[in-house]
Formats: sequence, structure tokens, C-alpha cells
Amino acid sequence: MAFAANFIWGAATSAYQIEGAAAEDGKGLNLWDVYTREPGRILDGHTGETACGHYRRFREDVRLMKEIGLQAYRFSLSWARLLPDGVGKVNEAGVRFYDALIDALLENGIEPYITLYHWDMPYELYKRGGWLNPGSPEWLGGLARLAAERFSDRVSHFFTLNEPQCFIGLGHLTGIHAPGLQCPLRDTFEMAHNALKAHGRAVQMLRQYGKQPLEIGYAPTCSAAYPETETPADIEAARQAMFALPEDDRNWTWNVSWWSDPVLLGHYPEEGLSRFEPYLPRFADADFKLISEPIDVYAQNLYNGRCLRMGKAGKPEIVHRYPGFPKTANGWPITPEALYWGPKFLSERYRKPLYITENGMSCHDRKTPDGKVHDPNRIDFLTQYLRQLRRAAAEADLRGYFHWSLMDNFEWEKGYSERFGMIYVDYPTQERTIKDSARWYREVIRTNGENLISNTREPS
Ligand code: FCB
Repeated sequence: MAFAANFIWGAATSAYQIEGAAAEDGKGLNLWDVYTREPGRILDGHTGETACGHYRRFREDVRLMKEIGLQAYRFSLSWARLLPDGVGKVNEAGVRFYDALIDALLENGIEPYITLYHWDMPYELYKRGGWLNPGSPEWLGGLARLAAERFSDRVSHFFTLNEPQCFIGLGHLTGIHAPGLQCPLRDTFEMAHNALKAHGRAVQMLRQYGKQPLEIGYAPTCSAAYPETETPADIEAARQAMFALPEDDRNWTWNVSWWSDPVLLGHYPEEGLSRFEPYLPRFADADFKLISEPIDVYAQNLYNGRCLRMGKAGKPEIVHRYPGFPKTANGWPITPEALYWGPKFLSERYRKPLYITENGMSCHDRKTPDGKVHDPNRIDFLTQYLRQLRRAAAEADLRGYFHWSLMDNFEWEKGYSERFGMIYVDYPTQERTIKDSARWYREVIRTNGENLISNTREPS
């Protein structure tokens, strides 16, 4: 089993998590600028005001990408840097920043992949109701048009939304992300529907104003279901669980089918239409045409999964994790199988070429007296996960893999306490140090994933 010869190896970031320069050069406020200033919202009161200082240091960061041998870089646009009020007047300094970043990437042979929306809605739009405003699809459409007009002469890969499950669920249901709301369920379904329409509108605008044929995708997240044994019954249990809806309605956003069936199949899942009926707004038929505007690739963020078996009653049942189950520093389970079964099930159902647009782990990395950052856990994690992904290459049309993240950064409500990067960032000095995993990844890229050898000794 091997990755396709043209498989793309990259790393990902998002604007709020790395750029800093929150109030520089005409940038407008966004949800996260406002939310992080509230006491008690973010661990230790951290904010993204400075973050990794990438806005000023991007050339150094591109040099490091080159050193790691990255073929591609996925980053998001800060909407309020480009359009301080979300719509209307363009901030030319913001355009210049992304122009310079794109040019630097291309000069170094690194392919830019742009995410339009990675959670940082301009505050002015939030004041107008945010995703509850029926005009919100048009707002994102405006950003997409601007991105196409200004950047698509050089950039041909675009993703619309990053993880709508999170910006609706964590932002508007549990309230642990900006804007920090706990809305009625009814509102969240309406917001979700508007976000899906916004995705469709963005696709239309990118196509209409794109200066070359564009490859357009959508980047939701999921927890992949994988079978306890590879028997047909357990595999079927995992397949069903992969697309099922959560039992608790207040957790409704954690699923695949409500977010991806409309985009790829043109309708919401039947199970959801009856289960969520009390909370659903009336949907216009035309909406589904917009939401299912054809896209080219499916982009999946995928960190972990759940194990399933077929229960006696012919119903999937969860196999509980044993005490002391492997986990990352932020407590996420380590389940490499997710990168085989996830892509396999997603390809079966949606029949689209697939990118893994995020995958990685948080580690308690630190610089040791030898001046290096040794992160054997990350190397081992990636070895196991990428082997599973390579297995999936025989069954799914896999186009690329983006490690989350290029560098340590502002990890939302956890502030700077979680390190996901392949580049270590010393925040007080902003000094960057390439971690061992980045050197290891360079080899993975060079050999196109043929040589996935962990630093841990394995039985011969
Ligand atoms: C994903 C987000 C990304 C980052 C990783 C760890 O849910 O898209 O911004 O926080 O998790």
C-alpha cells in the first residue's frame, strides 16, 4: 500500500491562532478579539492579540516551512483584516499581507491552500445577528468573492468553512468558544442552516470570480467510528455509528451526516429531520440546491475515533475505553484506526476525493538544555496514524495530508497551554525551534510516506 505519487504533504494553521497584530494596520475586531478579553473565558486570560506574531514574522515562518520540506500550507484568512466591518470597505493593508504571504510561499515552492472561515467572524457582523442573520450566507459570499478576485490568480485551492460543528456547537450551544452563547436549540439549527448556505454561496462566488479553475472543498470535523474486530458485523456497526446522530439533543452538532449530507447529497438525513423536528425552521427547497453546489474535494479534520461493535440486538454498541487508555496531553484518545476507517466510510458515502486537512496531537513539549525540542510522542503518534492513512489509500481517493499544526499557537479556550506544533514557539521571545517531529516529517515527505518508522523500538 502506498500513497499516490502526487499526494500532497502539508501543515495547517488558522489566522486568529497565529497572526497576532489584532489591532494593526486597520484590522477590525472579530469575535475572538472580544471574547478573549472577558475575564474567565480563556485559561489564564490568554488572548490572540500577539499569538505567534506571524503577521510580522511570516517570512521566517515560510523559511521554516521550506526547511521542513512542506509541499503545501493551509492557512485561513482573517475576515476582519480584509473587511474590517465584515462587508463593504476593503482594508488594503490586509490584502497586502496575504499577497506577500502567498508570494513568499510560491517563491519557496509551497502551494497555498486557503480556508475562508476559521471561526473569526467580524464583530460588526455578530452585532447584526451573526449566523442567525439570514444575510449571513451573502456575507461569506462577499469574502469569497474578494478572495477570488485578489488571490485566485496565484491560489487555486480553497476551503470554505472550517469545522462548522465547533463554531456553532462550541460557540453557540456550550458557549466555551466565541461568542460564548448558550442559545436555544431552535436558533442553533437556523444558524447551522445559514452556515451551510454560506458554504454554498462561497462556492458560487469562488467559481464566478476565480481567475483559474479552482479546487474547492469543505472542511468539517468528525470523530471516526472504527470496528472492534474486522468482522462484517462490527464493520457495519462502525459504519452506522459513523453517520448516526448523538443521543443528547444538546450535543446535536457532533455528527457527520447533518453537516455533510446536505453538502454532498443535497438533503438532511431523514433520521435528523424526524428527531430534531421540534427545533427545525422551515427550509426552502432552493436552499438545498445552494448548499449542494458542487465541490471538488472533501476536506476532513480528523483527530480520533470511537470503537464500535455490533450488539446482540443488532444495534451498534460502543466499546468503552479501558482505564489508562492512551491519550494526548489535552486528553484526546489516541486512536490511529480513525485514519483508516474515517476516510474509508467517508469515501463510500460521499464519493469525493479526500484531504485530511487537520490531524495531530498536543504534547507537553519543552526546550531541553541541548537547545532542541524532542517530541518522540508526536513522532510515534504520526507514525501510527499515517500508517493507517496509507492503508486507506487503497480504498479512498486520498489527495493530501495537513499536519495540525505548523507551529505551536493559541489553542482557543486552552490558550497557549496546548502545543500542537512541529515548530516550537517560545512566546516571550517569539523564537522558533524546529522540533524533532518536523525533521522526521521531512523524511516522510521525501519518501512520500513509504518509510513510516517510529522512533520507538519495534519487535522484529
Ligand atoms: C481543531 C481546530 C483547530 C485546532 C485543532 C487542535 O478543532 O480546527 O483550530 O484548534 O482543533
